[in-house]
Amino acid sequence: MSAQRSTAEKIVILTGAGISAESGLGTFRDEGGLWAQHRIEDVATPEGFARNPKLVHDFYNARRAQAAVATPNAAHSALARLQRDHPGEVILVTQNVDGLHEKAGATALHMHGVLDGALCAACGGRWTAPLVMSPSGVCPHCDRPATRPDIVWFGEMPYFMDEIAEHLETCDLFAAIGTSGQVYPAAGFVQEAAYAGAHTVELNLSDSDTSRSFAEHRVGPASRIVPQWVEEILAAKA
Ligand code: APR
Repeated sequence: MSAQRSTAEKIVILTGAGISAESGLGTFRDEGGLWAQHRIEDVATPEGFARNPKLVHDFYNARRAQAAVATPNAAHSALARLQRDHPGEVILVTQNVDGLHEKAGATALHMHGVLDGALCAACGGRWTAPLVMSPSGVCPHCDRPATRPDIVWFGEMPYFMDEIAEHLETCDLFAAIGTSGQVYPAAGFVQEAAYAGAHTVELNLSDSDTSRSFAEHRVGPASRIVPQWVEEILAAKA
C-alpha cells in the first residue's frame, strides 16, 4: 500500500463472517459452514419463519449461545483501536450479527441485524433478546405474541443503507475483511467506493467473488493480516 493511500482521511471497513472465524464462530459458505448444515429457505427467510417459527428460533438460539461466550480476536481488537485512535474517521459496517466488534470496543453499523436483538413483527418494537427465544414470546411493548429475532433475512432490506451509501461516496479507503462477496448489497460496496475514487483493499483467507474489483489484496488469517494492515495505517497517520 502506498503511503498517501494509508493516510486516508475517511475509511470504510466492511466485515463478514471470516473476521469471527478465529473466535470460533462458523462462517456460512466455507467447508461445513452454516449453509451446509441448514437450508437458507428454512432458517433465514420470512417464509421459513412463518412456516416453522420454532425451527428458526432454535437456529438463532444456538448461534446466540455461541456468540454469548465468544471473544473478539486480534482482528476485532485492531479495528477497535483504529476507530478509537481516529474518532469519526473509521466507519465499520458489518454483515455479522455476533456482537464481537462491540465486545472489542468498536461501534459498527449492523446491516444484517444483531443476535442479541428481538423485534416485534406487529408493532416494530425492539428490545434485548433473551438468550432463548420461542414462538410463545410476547412483545414487551404491545403484549402481542409476534416476536422474532432482529435479523435481516434474505428478501428483506438491510439496515442503514442510506447512511452506508453516503459513507461509500465520501471515503478515501474501503476495505472488505472476511467476506465471500456473494451477498448483495454488501458485495457491491467495493464498486461504489471505487467509483467515488477510494482505494480498495480486500483482506481474506482466499479469493472471494468480488476479488477482481479490489485494487489491493492481502491474503491470510484475519487475526494476523488485519493487525498488520492497521499498524501500517496508524504509522502513516502518525
Ligand atoms: N480470516 C480471513 N478470512 C476468512 C477466515 C479467516 N480466518 N476464515 C474464512 N474467511 C473468509 C472466507 O474465505 C470467505 O471469503 O471469510 C469469508 C466467509 O464467507 P461467508 O461464509 O459467505 O460469510 P459472509 O461473506 O459474511 O456472508 C455474507 O451471507 O448468509 C448471509 O447474512 C449472511 O451476513 C451473511 C452474508
